[in-house]
Amino acid sequence: MTSNTQATQATQTTQAPADPGPDATAPTLAVAPPAVEDVTTVACVGIGTIGGGWAAYFLARGYRVQAWDPSPEAPARVRELIAAAWPALTELGLADGADPENITVHTDLAEALSGAQFVQESAPEVLEMKQNLLADIDAAAAPGVIIASSTSGYSMSEMAVRAAHPERLVVGHPFNPPYLIPLVEVVGGTASAPDAIEWSSRWYEHLGKSVITMDREVPGFIANRLQEALWREALHMVRNGEATVEQIDRSITDGPGLRWPLQGPMLTFHLAGGNGGMKHMLDHFGPSLKSPWTRLEAPELTDELRDAVVAGCDDEANGRTVPQLVAERDKAIIAIRKVIEDLRTGAGPAGVHSAVDVGGPAGEAQ
Ligand SMILES: NC(=O)c1ccc[n+]([C@@H]2O[C@H](COP(=O)([O-])OP(=O)(O)OC[C@H]3O[C@@H](n4cnc5c(N)ncnc54)[C@H](O)[C@@H]3O)[C@@H](O)[C@H]2O)c1
Repeated sequence: MTSNTQATQATQTTQAPADPGPDATAPTLAVAPPAVEDVTTVACVGIGTIGGGWAAYFLARGYRVQAWDPSPEAPARVRELIAAAWPALTELGLADGADPENITVHTDLAEALSGAQFVQESAPEVLEMKQNLLADIDAAAAPGVIIASSTSGYSMSEMAVRAAHPERLVVGHPFNPPYLIPLVEVVGGTASAPDAIEWSSRWYEHLGKSVITMDREVPGFIANRLQEALWREALHMVRNGEATVEQIDRSITDGPGLRWPLQGPMLTFHLAGGNGGMKHMLDHFGPSLKSPWTRLEAPELTDELRDAVVAGCDDEANGRTVPQLVAERDKAIIAIRKVIEDLRTGAGPAGVHSAVDVGGPAGEAQ
C-alpha cells in the first residue's frame, strides 16, 4: 500500500445530516487557528496506548511531536511503541521527512506545549483528571491552538467545565491503534466554537483520517455505542449459556464482520432485503425487532423511523442499484478473505504481516 491509501481514507469524511445553520449565539474563537497545511508541530499529552499511537501517526505524517506524560516510564515506552508501529506505517506510506526520532518527551507541560499548533490529549479516562488537565492545557497553549481529547465516552460539555477557553476544546475520538484505524469521531461540547469543530475535522482529514463530524453529543459517540450494543448482547448470551465466547467471535469474524469493512450494518440489511432493499427488509422483518432476539429495548418502529432508515440507505447507495452493491460487496469480501487466509497460513505479504504483528499495545478493545 502507498500513501494513496491514506488519501482515500480522507475522502470518506461524513457530516451528520442535520445542519442547524449558523447560530449567532454560538461560541467563537478569539484567535483563528493556523491553516491546517501550516501545522508542523503537535503536542501529545498522555502517551500511553492511544497517545503513543497518535504520536507514531503524527511522526509518520511528517510532524514534529512534543509530548508530556507524568509517568517516568513514558519516554521509553513511547519509543518502543513507535518502533513497533513504524514498519506498518512505512508500509502504509510515510510523508516526506517523516522521522521516528522527531519526538521530544518533556517533564514540563508548558514546555511540551510551547510552539505546538495542535494538542491531542490522551490521559486516562477519569473525568476529574480530564477536567483539570484540559484546563491546564488551555492555560498553557498559545491562543488559536485547538485542543482535542481522545476520550472514549465523556462529553466535551462535561470535560471543559474548568477551562478558561472551552471554545477551543473538542473531542477527537480515535480507535486503537490510532496509527492504523482511520476513523476519528469529532464532536464539540456546548461551549465549543463551531469553527474549532470544523477546523479539527479538516485537520484530521488532512492527516489522512476518515472523519465523522457529529453535530451533537451522544454518549459513546457513534461507533462505541454500536460496539457496546453488540457487546451487551454478547454478554447476555454468555451469561445465559446461549453461546460460547468463541462462537460469538466466530459468528462475527466468519459472518457479518466480513461484510462490514466495505458496507456497514445499514447497507448490509439493505442488501438482505433483495431487490426490495431496506424497504422490504423493514416491512418484512421490522416487527421481529420486538421479538426476544434482543435483550435490549428496541425503539418503536414508527413510520418516521422506517422512512428515515429507508431514505438513508438510498442516500448512501447514491444511485448504485442493489446488484451493483452486491457486486462491490462480493469483490471486497473475496479480497478481505484472501488477506485473512494468507495471514492465518503465514503466506501473506510482508507488509500485511507487519501491520498485524505490531498491532498496538494491548488495551481497551476498540
Ligand atoms: N485504549 C483504547 O482502545 C482507546 C481507544 C480510544 C480512546 N481511548 C481513550 O484514550 C485515552 C487514553 O487511553 P489509553 O488507553 O491510552 O490509556 P493508557 O493508560 O494506556 O495511557 C494513559 C497515559 O496517560 C498518562 N497520564 C496519567 N496521568 C496523566 C495526567 N494527569 N496527564 C497526562 N497524562 C497522564 C499515563 O502515564 C499513561 O501514559 C482515554 O481517554 C481513553 O478513553 C482509548
